[in-house]
Amino acid sequence: MSIEDIKATVRERYGRAALQVNTGAKSGCCGGSCGTAADDPITSNLYTSAETAVLPAEAVLASLGCGNPTALAELNEGEVVLDLGSGGGIDVLLSARRVGPTGKAYGLDMTDEMLALARENQRKAGVENVEFLKGEIEAIPLPDRSVDVIISNCVVNLSGDKRKVIAEAFRVLKPGGRFAVSDVVVRGDVPSQVRESMELWVGCVAGALTEQEFHAFLWEAGFERIDIEPTRIYEFEDAKAFRAGSGLDTEVLAREVGGRVMGAFIRARKPVE
Ligand SMILES: C[S@@+](CC[C@H](N)C(=O)[O-])C[C@H]1O[C@@H](n2cnc3c(N)ncnc32)[C@H](O)[C@@H]1O
Repeated sequence: MSIEDIKATVRERYGRAALQVNTGAKSGCCGGSCGTAADDPITSNLYTSAETAVLPAEAVLASLGCGNPTALAELNEGEVVLDLGSGGGIDVLLSARRVGPTGKAYGLDMTDEMLALARENQRKAGVENVEFLKGEIEAIPLPDRSVDVIISNCVVNLSGDKRKVIAEAFRVLKPGGRFAVSDVVVRGDVPSQVRESMELWVGCVAGALTEQEFHAFLWEAGFERIDIEPTRIYEFEDAKAFRAGSGLDTEVLAREVGGRVMGAFIRARKPVE
């Protein structure tokens, strides 16, 4: 799979997922096909009702993450937050409330349909300290040292060049800035059949880094205080839901992957100079 093939497939699938929200259905790329996925083991039940109550329904329906980074990240009044792969904008809108009118929340996404949905959700939420940028997480369109906190929710795994993503996150963070990201990570090896499946890549499983790889990439980029904390471990039954469209045998997939793939919260800090 070339990096360009991955990008084109990801853009096409998540574009479709964004359009599906307009029909009132929850989409479920992470964890399975891009069909409706009310009980997707990866994306369901991530937010409290107090969090979702203040958001437009479409922002909640478009949620395709695997964690709740703003609940776990430290966010302070007046800070600048950047969400890598912001989708329908749920974590950007939650961050904007936390940093307040003196702060700013940016969302970055490469898929036009997702950007249109996110901007519409911003309009419905009536928040002004938000800006959605078009671009790729491998080439962040912001200056060096301009961001206090990088968040992201189940997107780093989709990139064909994760080292570049992490190096770019380091570049745009201010000294002392925080990396506070939810993502799918793997404990141990993933079978090559799984790694080679484009369906499972788009579903956030095949492209997931191992815990060791994620740690090493952050360290190489210059981050310190690296910590990877599992937040949800996908078990045998969950693994069956990953299968849709992958062509892989359910039992084999569940045996090989169940219990080894997890949602995790990854935190690190750019050193203070
Ligand atoms: C799994 S969805 C997550 C969306 C959002 N973070 C959430 O929690 O609902 C992945 C999003 O990342 C975007 N994306 C994937 N790869 C990207 C890349 N290389 N550059 C920019 N955006 C990307 C997709 O367009 C999609 O909107």
